[in-house]
Amino acid sequence: MTLIDGKMISAQVRAEVKEEAAIFEATFGKKIGLAVVLAGEDPASQVYVRNKIRACEEVGIRSFAHYLPADVTQRQLLELVDALAADDAVHGILIQLPLPKHLDADEILRRIPAQKDVDGFSAENIGRLALNEAGTVACTPYGVMELLKRYHIALSGKRAVVVGRSNIVGRPMALLLLNADATVTVCHSRTRNVAEECARADVIVAAVGKPKFISADMVKEGAVVVDVGINRIDGKLVGDVDFEAVKEKTSYITPVPGGVGPMTIAMLLKNTVACARRANEP
Ligand code: GUN
Repeated sequence: MTLIDGKMISAQVRAEVKEEAAIFEATFGKKIGLAVVLAGEDPASQVYVRNKIRACEEVGIRSFAHYLPADVTQRQLLELVDALAADDAVHGILIQLPLPKHLDADEILRRIPAQKDVDGFSAENIGRLALNEAGTVACTPYGVMELLKRYHIALSGKRAVVVGRSNIVGRPMALLLLNADATVTVCHSRTRNVAEECARADVIVAAVGKPKFISADMVKEGAVVVDVGINRIDGKLVGDVDFEAVKEKTSYITPVPGGVGPMTIAMLLKNTVACARRANEP
């Protein structure tokens, strides 16, 4: 069994991004800029946003943090997005999710121009992914693909099972695996026999949000298991995979923490550089 080291790969990606950001700055005489918007006081979101801003600083990307009160109105948020969309110093706009419940998140996300959609959540970017065209890919599934690539894990012709169909992870993950020529099955809350589907898989990507959901009997000998889950139990971080029970059956497995988690921010930075470059193409 090989443990996939997301911290190490994330550091490699961030080092590459740092070089690319420096080249951009030398070429265009200005820094790459990322706007990060946080509404409300969700403690996990506050940590994520702080980490994103620190990561920007470390690679030489200028960050524009906007902290809004929990009672911010839909109109105020839309006006902020419009202002950021019009700002040439801002190459990427990230609205940290989840937004406070009284807001219409879909309408706010739709307001971000696809060229500045560093999260890859827009209909245009999801559509491009579905068509296997170049665009911005959602950071977490993109990070999973980067891990598989850097560990030389072949996907062509392999049976891949994605557990979970969220817009942020499951759906784009399934499309990426399909684009990599895997035979893809997506399992979700209505799937009749998730265990049976998983037990056939060469590659399992778990993104269900249920602690230790993937048990040893669901994993084929030699399978690759990628755990996207971040569940907190008694203050401890637990993935969607029962890691201790599953690990010895696998050929490759990601730990939690230290697997997919560190990749998300690295891919966000990579996406920001790509958006900045595209915005400055002749
Ligand atoms: N909340 C949880 N994951 C994400 C993400 O990838 N992007 C944003 N904007 N919010 C999130």
